Amino acid sequence: MHDVVVQTLLETADIDHLRAALTRAGFTASGIAARLGPQAAADAGRSDFRAALRITDSGDPLDTMIRLFICGQTEPESAVAAALAPLPVATARAAGLLVQGEGGLAAGVDLEPYGDWWVLSDLPAQPGRQLPADHVLGVGGASTTLAGATVRTPVGTALDLGTGCGVQALHLSTHARAVTATDLSPRALRFAATTAALNGLSWELLQGDMLAPVADRRFDLVVSNPPFVVGPGLATHVYRDSGRAGDGVCAELAGAAPTLLAEGGTLQFLANWVHVKGEDWEDRVAGWFAGTGMDLWAIQREVSDPLDYVRLWLADASEKHDAQRAAQWLDWFAAHGVEAIGFGLVTARNSGKTDPSVVCEDLRQQVQAPLGDRVAEWFTRRDWLDAHDREQLLAARYRRVDGLQLRQEATMGEDGWMVDRQLLAMPEGLRWVEEIDPLILALVSGSNGDLALRDQIALLATAHEAPTEALSEALLPVIDHLVERGLLLPTPL
Ligand SMILES: C[S@@+](CC[C@H](N)C(=O)[O-])C[C@H]1O[C@@H](n2cnc3c(N)ncnc32)[C@H](O)[C@@H]1O
Repeated sequence: MHDVVVQTLLETADIDHLRAALTRAGFTASGIAARLGPQAAADAGRSDFRAALRITDSGDPLDTMIRLFICGQTEPESAVAAALAPLPVATARAAGLLVQGEGGLAAGVDLEPYGDWWVLSDLPAQPGRQLPADHVLGVGGASTTLAGATVRTPVGTALDLGTGCGVQALHLSTHARAVTATDLSPRALRFAATTAALNGLSWELLQGDMLAPVADRRFDLVVSNPPFVVGPGLATHVYRDSGRAGDGVCAELAGAAPTLLAEGGTLQFLANWVHVKGEDWEDRVAGWFAGTGMDLWAIQREVSDPLDYVRLWLADASEKHDAQRAAQWLDWFAAHGVEAIGFGLVTARNSGKTDPSVVCEDLRQQVQAPLGDRVAEWFTRRDWLDAHDREQLLAARYRRVDGLQLRQEATMGEDGWMVDRQLLAMPEGLRWVEEIDPLILALVSGSNGDLALRDQIALLATAHEAPTEALSEALLPVIDHLVERGLLLPTPL
């Protein structure tokens, strides 16, 4: 069913009219910020619209749009007509953009300025109003997490799998020559098509289940914020449920990487994975990619316990508390030995290496957003390490990353402070904190790019009266780790 032409919510000419109205009113991120000022804008971002409503009482088009689309108010029909002109109110109503409210018109969809764009989606969840099964999600925390973590190198072809309102495709448009966006939900595709048209962009939009619409196609970059919620495989809401049991949907995406990615191509997706009794989560996620030949970096950002997880997702769709549903979900977790659920970012690359690098690790600390450049740098450093043999690693010179901090824990003893622990901390970027010993501290302290590692190790061997060869064997894996994490950088990388 993937070669149907996707209809927009409005005819092309009406989309032009809507764009003209939005532009003329200044209904943009900067226009709204200027009208509301920082405090009212921040309050509105947290759903406290009192200040915004006080400021926007002039009846001019921008005030009316802010009240309609941001504050969720019902506004007089005459003011709405003036704000949306030249788009006729009747047309906007017929398309579902507006609905009849008490004494006026209210927004029927979420129309949100996002960066330099506008995004159309369904209205967000409201207390007491359960989301319909085909709800089209707006830009949320997960959307911006993935958008921020995407590597923005210019590419030829890019795919957004599970596009929803089209937020990832918007970002892809900034650095991909051709953007393809897919979704199982025809309703989501209509929103994505309208988002694209409203922003003057042209995407290939395909409907279908997961990889079906792009079978036999390869892309330079594939991004996905898939319906990753794990559970028994019951699909009640298309925006979050894949109908696959457990974390099957993410495993499916991972397994498709070799046929989906062009040479050198990258796949990035948000994922949930189950922590099963007796199994390391790292092995599970690495197992999704077993035999694919992909370089992999999977980072676990959060872990929830099953009960919190089920409560979170039932509340997300404003589902009424359904003890039976929650129990069924939790029973499934218990029956499958699921002790926790991990959330994170998976990045895989089709580098063509015979021995690809596979790293799955916890990265639970607060990092400096956005992550995209950090992900690209991680692969660059990993490539450098993989391309250098032992002798080359010893011949290279390394320097500490700027701003590296030493943190110590010490206990006061009879002879003064006794150091218990030493930690090296990166204050910026991924903010890794590494426990080290005095030997590694000496090595890192001496890493200013002047000496080859081999010479640094020889000096340490003399100072510690240790055999150089044994010291090299012990320190090379540490160097690999510190370079991979970016605490040490080979010069001139
Ligand atoms: C979590 S939303 C992500 C939306 C948007 N890409 C974002 O980043 O916010 C997941 C999207 O996947 C779509 N989807 C659900 N099941 C799918 C399937 N089996 N195949 C393709 N897309 C699917 C949903 O309709 C929804 O738009």
